Amino acid sequence: MTTTHNEVPNTRRRGSAPALDDLSAAERLSIDELRALQLERLQWTLRHAYENVPLYRRKFDEAGVHPDDCRELADLAKFPYTTKQDLRDAYPFGMFAVPESEVSRIHASSGTTGKPTVVGYTATDIDNWAGVMARSIFAAGGRPGHKVHVSYGYGLFTGGLGAHYGAEKLGCTVVPASGGMTARQVQLITDFRPEVIMVTPSYMLTLLDEFERQGIDPRSTSLQVGIFGAEPWTEHMRRELEERMNLHAVDIYGLSEVMGPGVAQECVETKDGLHIWEDHFYPEVVDPLEDTVLADGVTGELVFTSLTKQALPIIRYRTRDLTALRPGTARPAYRRMDKVTGRSDDMIILRGVNVFPTQIEEIVLGTDGLAPHFQLRLTRQDRMDHLTVLVEADPDAPQERRRAASSEVAERVKDGVGVTVGVEVVDPESLERSVGKLRRVVDQRPPQ
Ligand code: DLL
Repeated sequence: MTTTHNEVPNTRRRGSAPALDDLSAAERLSIDELRALQLERLQWTLRHAYENVPLYRRKFDEAGVHPDDCRELADLAKFPYTTKQDLRDAYPFGMFAVPESEVSRIHASSGTTGKPTVVGYTATDIDNWAGVMARSIFAAGGRPGHKVHVSYGYGLFTGGLGAHYGAEKLGCTVVPASGGMTARQVQLITDFRPEVIMVTPSYMLTLLDEFERQGIDPRSTSLQVGIFGAEPWTEHMRRELEERMNLHAVDIYGLSEVMGPGVAQECVETKDGLHIWEDHFYPEVVDPLEDTVLADGVTGELVFTSLTKQALPIIRYRTRDLTALRPGTARPAYRRMDKVTGRSDDMIILRGVNVFPTQIEEIVLGTDGLAPHFQLRLTRQDRMDHLTVLVEADPDAPQERRRAASSEVAERVKDGVGVTVGVEVVDPESLERSVGKLRRVVDQRPPQ
């Protein structure tokens, strides 16, 4: 397998759009070079998985495929998918392809029920991860010498440590704040003057309110770039955060089963979707119902195959995230994915209509008199499901505006999404605040 060299962009210059020779060697590959590298790495990954993970050997054998059947990238479609359930069934270390003694880090996702999903990394995996994260921070506008305030949680969650290693690799100074202790975070940002913050967009809103509560103008901070991810957020939220914070808000995507943050990153100079670091993660988009591979440009479920991972090679992992693939722009060889506006399992089916929390977010943020804090409450009355949008009033909005805003949201949801929902405009500061990933939907329906 080809090892990775020079993962880190090699500039110390500051400025928004980097010149081509500022980028790492991998980012400068042509599409043909990238495809050749992907095929070589894919063939290695399939063999590595087949030879070292009993689950993959069984699944490949059952599907009648062998790693030798992969002669071109399109042959990947012959191989079986991997699901979260496969990882759960293999709890804790059944998917590892290297001896436990070679695993240098373990992360796990808590999951709401049952056993956590456990993932492992060799030292080389950690280095590759730091490399793609360094690239991501650079693409977002971070530069060596910048201070990076990391408010993603540290611990079993991949956000904090993933961001941390990448920022260090890029040559930044890291402030490992982790999540929580909001008042202190505001103090640290004010005193340490970081250029970059890495945080979930919902926790950024919590921090924003805290700046205002302390009488500090959030537009006056040292922050130039916010690298926001780990949960869906919309273009409306980008505008809100950019205007209120006077920074560039860019999107970062990733998932623990595939690596962690840094699988895909939006470039600050274009803000047009997220470039997938395809030399490490091979994307496909499939029809979630038919399981067939869809053409680029068509929205479906994102599926990833790792190309370099040693400890936990992952073959055709069903992410449940919905998106479409597009041609590269700021990094020409690397395809982009549309912002993920929802997961198939976040989707609420209300009287037959599919509703994503991001659709409600766009409407709430586009309505005067409301704060960007809302929650979706699902209840059941007379065997019918009801959705209520609880949204906080803007503290400056008069009573009449609140009432008008409530009917405007209900009307826009009816017109735009096609369902009738209840809307309650509640007092400022009355809804639960995020300190990490926000739980948007509160399901109060009795079990059926
Ligand atoms: O959330 C990794 C991460 C940390 C990404 C920090 C970005 C920043 P998990 O906890 O395994 O890993 O959750 C992965 O979160 O399948 C998506 O549904 C969602 N997600 C992650 N990034 C985005 C994003 C981390 N930018 C799951 N937009 C994924 C929308 C996102 N959803």
